[in-house]
Amino acid sequence: MPHCRRVEEHLTVGRVAELAGVSVRTLHHYDEIGLVRPSARTAAGYRAYSVDDVERLREVLAYRRLGFGLREIADLVDDPATDAVARLYRLRGLLLEQRDRAAAMVTAIDRELTARAVGITTTSEERLRMFGAQLYEAIGSAYPATRRTEPRIAAKIWDALGDAATVLNVGAGTGSYEPPDRDVTAVEPSAVMRAQRPAGAAPCVAAGAENLPFEDRSFDAAMAVSTVHHWPDPVAGLREMRRVARRVVVLTYDASSTGRGEGFWLARDYLPEFAGLLVDWPSLADLTDAVGGRAEPVLIPWDCADGFFEAYWRRPEAYLDDRVRRAVSVWTRVGPEAEQRAVNTLRGDLSSGRWAERNRDLLALDAADLGLRLIVT
Ligand SMILES: C[S@@+](CC[C@H](N)C(=O)[O-])C[C@H]1O[C@@H](n2cnc3c(N)ncnc32)[C@H](O)[C@@H]1O
Repeated sequence: MPHCRRVEEHLTVGRVAELAGVSVRTLHHYDEIGLVRPSARTAAGYRAYSVDDVERLREVLAYRRLGFGLREIADLVDDPATDAVARLYRLRGLLLEQRDRAAAMVTAIDRELTARAVGITTTSEERLRMFGAQLYEAIGSAYPATRRTEPRIAAKIWDALGDAATVLNVGAGTGSYEPPDRDVTAVEPSAVMRAQRPAGAAPCVAAGAENLPFEDRSFDAAMAVSTVHHWPDPVAGLREMRRVARRVVVLTYDASSTGRGEGFWLARDYLPEFAGLLVDWPSLADLTDAVGGRAEPVLIPWDCADGFFEAYWRRPEAYLDDRVRRAVSVWTRVGPEAEQRAVNTLRGDLSSGRWAERNRDLLALDAADLGLRLIVT
């Protein structure tokens, strides 16, 4: 029956969302703005995507992952001067460029690791080239797989924002922890991260923390979550937050040996290279002084929903999963050799029971202090 076959060739919005790894909300948004319109409906009246619609969506998502804004993408996919093959070649070229950029960064990181191993320190300029926002241009597309708002940590951040009606979120990434009930403006230097902000998220400005493009005291509060350790100059960035906002709330780490460095079994027993990443990191006192605030510990729940480095402290098998590691910059920064060694040793210890033996005490805890701190002014 020709009618049935035609319906079979169309995919429902739910199925397309599942296959493409995007939300139904995103697809509805693309439909509303005319970017990708499902050109048919199923017999039950649901939106349905034809083969051509899916092809167009694939192109849109590829541009999205490359960091293009929706308006730019509309121009690219509707370009009357190019046919489908020419557009595929253009996309292919852009993807190769991105791959080469990531490869160049890995080389730069390897160079720095080698230099550090023989005691040579790199200049700030050299470091700027490989870390901060540039790192997220390379690894940012893996972020949303496991990084999301952890409600118990969000509650603490939102509580610390007090009665602030206007909030600046610095190093905002994909928008986790942005309070839903305030007027939020986001700042995020990485185009890859900006492109992954969900439809309807707060407006986002392309800038770095050290140079916030706002007048003094423009916001009731400024927040920064899991980002300060990426800034080339954390103290300067925190002072900027203080300048543009009346209150500052920062979720970061105590890098001292009692805090992040030696407290966590993964760093202590499997990834000693982690300590090297903390060498130049300012002390917690430097960070609190920069904003004139105080720090309080934030416990990490055993079933933490946000997959940051320490999040799986009671679920060690998670670190064997590449998706978990790709969403955490630490693994890229220590380099592939250290990563593989740590994962292989952990795998061995999990199957021999050595990990459980060493970390028996942890299994009785519901939350742990692993150096996460909330700085509040
Ligand atoms: C681990 S992500 C955290 C994102 C988000 N705050 C969250 O909690 O999911 C770190 C973010 O800091 C951003 N970043 C890097 N350097 C920055 C800088 N100098 N100023 C502001 N943000 C920066 C990165 O691009 C990345 O999006």
